[in-house]
Amino acid sequence: MKVLIVGSGGREHAIAESVKRSPKVDKIYCAPGNAGIGQIAECVDIKAMEFDKLVDFAKSEGIDLTIIGMDDPLVGGIVDEFEKADLRVFGPNKAAAILEGSKAFSKDLMKKYNIPTAKYENFTDADEALKYIEAGKFPVVLKADGLALGKGVLICNNLDEAKEGIKTIMQDKKFGDAGNTMVVEEFMTGREVSVLSFVDGKTIRIMTSAQDHKRAGDGDTGLNTGGMGTFSPSPFYTKEVDEFCKKYIFQASVDAMATEGREFKGIIFFGLMLTEDGPRVLEYNARFGDPEAQVVLPRMKNDIIDVINACIDQTLDQVELEFEDNAAVCVVLASDGYPVKYEKGFEIKGLEKFDDKDGYYCFHAGTRLDNGKIVTNGGRVLGVTAKGENLKAARANAYEATKWIDFENKYMRNDIGKAIDEA
Ligand code: AMP
Ligand code: GLY
Repeated sequence: MKVLIVGSGGREHAIAESVKRSPKVDKIYCAPGNAGIGQIAECVDIKAMEFDKLVDFAKSEGIDLTIIGMDDPLVGGIVDEFEKADLRVFGPNKAAAILEGSKAFSKDLMKKYNIPTAKYENFTDADEALKYIEAGKFPVVLKADGLALGKGVLICNNLDEAKEGIKTIMQDKKFGDAGNTMVVEEFMTGREVSVLSFVDGKTIRIMTSAQDHKRAGDGDTGLNTGGMGTFSPSPFYTKEVDEFCKKYIFQASVDAMATEGREFKGIIFFGLMLTEDGPRVLEYNARFGDPEAQVVLPRMKNDIIDVINACIDQTLDQVELEFEDNAAVCVVLASDGYPVKYEKGFEIKGLEKFDDKDGYYCFHAGTRLDNGKIVTNGGRVLGVTAKGENLKAARANAYEATKWIDFENKYMRNDIGKAIDEA
């Protein structure tokens, strides 16, 4: 069969790598893809938001299955367009992707169905928001309602910061229309865990857990990024936590969406915080995490095509997910200066060292081909992933493998997975 993947980051490279392992697949296409994906798939020069062109391509090329990697096209309704054209596609439709597309919607959903989350209130009026904040406690969390490239969350320590935050989101519209509505949320503390799942509208199957490192600098300092590295499984995602989430969060979220007439088929990514009072949902995403996918998918034993087909055909109740009894760590190699200002276009050397090395992967995030050479083309450049028999071994292997790669302005965190020492 022919498979098309929509997206261009490390996540889509990890999806492509999993798809490649399926004996059912003859050919992989990726739109628009990147230089690394181009080594295992044919990259097609169509952007993720060009729905008409993507549908035309899928029809003319006889694509059997399209997998949507990114949030923007999902929230924009790409799945509805593919379904209208009778094309087989994996991801939530527009009505369901609102779970990620609107934080105000997801907070209201959790409140209505008693799914544990931080206390909050939604606002469309800046003065009303300020009044509410003045009467409450600090720190307080302000969230732009819509998609904001993972940057629409502001943690404010005092009233001045909160005033500035309201201005940034609602008046200056730094995140555009995403800030028309703003969620004001209680600040929580605890360890964060990412749990990804396959969902067929009714049944949910949980993948192995992972933890991201969102800040740019060692020791969780510096600005928020798309993610600087991950490890899987998370030792903090204990059996007890799992039981709580199964009882109060996972199935409850799927059922809530179905009851609302927004049946969700695709990936639900639960961003959880393990607070003193138990696990709480920080956010939902409607797609694989990036770089969570880079440590979760390489450990999955199932044929990803079988699992995706079961989601589309609503037979996921007949599937059990299986993961290797090992660990994986992904260290992101970024361009120095990310997430603010950085140079690109530098040649990347050492990529060939990953060829045929079992348990080592170099997922491309921001790369492109330039006269036959692979050069840097983004803030996050590569995700170097290694497996090991346990987290410590995987971490040692991943950091060893980061040494194989060289490019000007190479930057990485040196403490990815350090938290596992405390486990
Ligand atoms: P979100 O996009 O909602 O996951 O928020 C991004 C990050 O902001 C999370 O990964 C947390 O580190 C932090 N955050 C979000 N909501 C809260 C909260 N209620 N309390 C503390 N930190 C939060
Ligand atoms: N790593 C966080 C995300 O994919 O949203």
